[in-house]
Amino acid sequence: MEFHVVDKEEATPDDTRLEDLSPQPLLTRDYELRPALVYERLRDRHGPVAPVDLLGVPAWLVLGYRESLQVLQDDDAWPKGLEKWRARTEGRVPADWPLAPSLEVNHVLIQGGDSYRTLRTAWDAALRPFQDPRQPQAKRLKAAVTGYADELISLLGQGGRTGHADLSAQLSRPLPLMAASHLLGFPGSQGDDALMDMWRILDAGPDAGPALERLLVTLTELAAAKIRKPGDDFPSHLLAAHPDLSVDALARELFMLLGMTSDHVGILISNTVVEVIAGDTEGGVRTALSAGMVRETMNRVVMRKPPLVNFVPRFAAADTPLGNHVIRAGDPVWVSSAAAHADPLFAAQMTPDTSISSRAHLAWGAGRRQCPARELASTIAMAGVSRVFERFAHLELALPVDQLPWRSSPFMRGLRSLPVRYELAGPVPAMPAPTADEAPETAVADVPDHAAKRRSSLWRYLAGLIRSNG
Ligand code: HEM
Repeated sequence: MEFHVVDKEEATPDDTRLEDLSPQPLLTRDYELRPALVYERLRDRHGPVAPVDLLGVPAWLVLGYRESLQVLQDDDAWPKGLEKWRARTEGRVPADWPLAPSLEVNHVLIQGGDSYRTLRTAWDAALRPFQDPRQPQAKRLKAAVTGYADELISLLGQGGRTGHADLSAQLSRPLPLMAASHLLGFPGSQGDDALMDMWRILDAGPDAGPALERLLVTLTELAAAKIRKPGDDFPSHLLAAHPDLSVDALARELFMLLGMTSDHVGILISNTVVEVIAGDTEGGVRTALSAGMVRETMNRVVMRKPPLVNFVPRFAAADTPLGNHVIRAGDPVWVSSAAAHADPLFAAQMTPDTSISSRAHLAWGAGRRQCPARELASTIAMAGVSRVFERFAHLELALPVDQLPWRSSPFMRGLRSLPVRYELAGPVPAMPAPTADEAPETAVADVPDHAAKRRSSLWRYLAGLIRSNG
């Protein structure tokens, strides 16, 4: 079903400059706890496009569904590329702006201009073998992810056939990272340490700075190794499609892949598991879910709770009316998919029947720059969720659904933890044999303590969670 946007009456837009509107901070405690309420207040006050303060820097937040599409579908009028940001060129963006580290790494998600187009074409080509289910690379990836999910569930089960677990820390977060490590073609256990560093960066804790430095060094070494000796992995396919990429440029793209995969896919897995459990009228007992049902639930979840809530900024190419304001050339514009999905114009068309609005939602973006890895991300998430409902005989939330803890950043929103009570189907499993793509020194042994010694920081961390399981 197509989604139709009706025309509304035109009003004269307000042309007050963004800087002169004294925007209110967006990222408040209220935003952390009740983002929907914050969006509604902004919508009531400013209409579909609101001036906001993002940690000390003014920006436009696009809340309207129609206006979001207008921006996303017209890349010429609303291009990406930080060099187009007037305030930044004029030195009005502080060097220590907390969002600078995420935005100043020049990779495909951030870039605009001609170099972007070549890069995006290369990304599409490099992802293709991993997204086309008929290709051996896609088959191997799916088998590997299913194997990783089994390993993680078996590791968790070492705490007992029944018990408590944090399915976020023990499954949803590590699984996509392991998938990313497979895609990146990391040799040995080096990948696991890089994955732990990615977490430290995403959690923005005190060790985030050194972790970023270490990770960029590791990814640069990986990029150089793939240039010297290509394999059948994403970096090598990207290089084949874009042979001019320098070592540093390739490392930045790998960083982007790791970041995107780790957080967003993990959020999707957790949210889907919650949706299935909470939607189960029989109190959380699951029997096998069909692949179709899992996919259907995931579609609904991604639309209701998009992992990427606000997109990286675009910039007005010329003074342009949008919503009730005139956006000046070079002003930053952040599309908020979460707010756009709550726009009455969009929300009114949604029904509990998921498939109806799934084509119109913005969770994967829209227009030329929409996510090129939708199928890949869904496949990884599907494999994880499917194994959960096959391996657990009983799964219920350890907290009421409305008390689950959430974490937000300016870009994403996901569960901080997913506490569950579980019962595994069948006896406590021995740890599975190593999957085909694991080097012998990283193989998982039959008891977690041995595994912890043999594997890297990721495995030690996960084994530590079992002991604290009680
Ligand atoms: C649940 C997981 C994911 C979600 C919800 C998601 C969502 C999105 C969205 C909304 C955009 C558009 C952003 C914008 O317009 O500014 C995007 C872009 C992008 N995504 Fe994803 N994504 C996910 C997973 C992934 C993964 C796993 C990868 C890589 C393997 C990936 C690679 C990219 C790239 C390269 C772009 C930039 C495209 C461009 O600018 O041309 N995404 N993603």
